[in-house]
Amino acid sequence: MGKMRPLAPDVRLTIAAVSDTHLDIKHPAPIVPQWLMYRAVSDAAKSARQPDAFVIPGDIVSEGETVNWEMAVKTFKKAGKPAPVTVLQIGNHDTWSEDGTEAAVQRYFDYTEKITGERYAHTYFTKIVNGYHLIFLSNEHEGEPGALITDEQMAWFREALSEAAGSGKPVFVFCHHPLNGTHGLPMTASADGKPDDDPMEGGIGRRSEEVAALLREVPNVWYITGHSHMGFSGAAYKKAHGYASFEEAHGVHLVNLPSLACGNHHGECKKLGCGLMIEVYDDRVVIRGREYKARRWLKDIREEYRL
Ligand SMILES: [Fe+2]
Repeated sequence: MGKMRPLAPDVRLTIAAVSDTHLDIKHPAPIVPQWLMYRAVSDAAKSARQPDAFVIPGDIVSEGETVNWEMAVKTFKKAGKPAPVTVLQIGNHDTWSEDGTEAAVQRYFDYTEKITGERYAHTYFTKIVNGYHLIFLSNEHEGEPGALITDEQMAWFREALSEAAGSGKPVFVFCHHPLNGTHGLPMTASADGKPDDDPMEGGIGRRSEEVAALLREVPNVWYITGHSHMGFSGAAYKKAHGYASFEEAHGVHLVNLPSLACGNHHGECKKLGCGLMIEVYDDRVVIRGREYKARRWLKDIREEYRL
């Protein structure tokens, strides 16, 4: 228990991240995901050293309806400002609405502006925080399995990565969807997933190889995702099962977040209310699991990368 604080005072960048908050008026008790979101945002807002960025990499709401987004606005208002830079990234659920995908994406732009004070021009963008590049590679609307990423976005992504690599600093790419076949996919895409499911199931989809090839060219890049609602799992789980929340593939550090508020499966820590704190120092990056709900660290969920 206690106020969230970094490991050491010489930290250069801190990012608090929780994913798949799934605010949903159709939830049997809509107050539950709303409360979990409140706990995460307020933990950051009241921390001993406010994070430099607070990120939700997708599925803010279960459906992009006004009533769900209004709950998000209320929650952020009540919890306080979590960080100087707050990014709500679009997920697949945020593109769904009874009024169609265009209406849902429009609501995403309208409501993220209400919450963060900033209007995004696209669903994809870069934020430079303390000199570090945070790149948001995103689904643009509903339309194909995985993430719908246009040629225009791919050209932007190539450019954004190249600029980020030029900084000489660690680079953080957030995308709602993991690369195909990582973190136990396709089996971990759902509670009853099977190893022989479609290899793209639960992954970013047809652009996966292309995205991986670009990431591979950048030294010190982290690719941080949500989507599958896989419970947190560390090194011991990886040894036993062959997959985990933290993996290395394609020369890239892969990190997958559990759902903050909606049914986790697989993995060793399936409880709700959890996310990550990313801390960047001159000589290392440390990523620690945090049970935001209970205001405590998850001791077994911790990775340290030397730079
Ligand atoms: Fe989700």
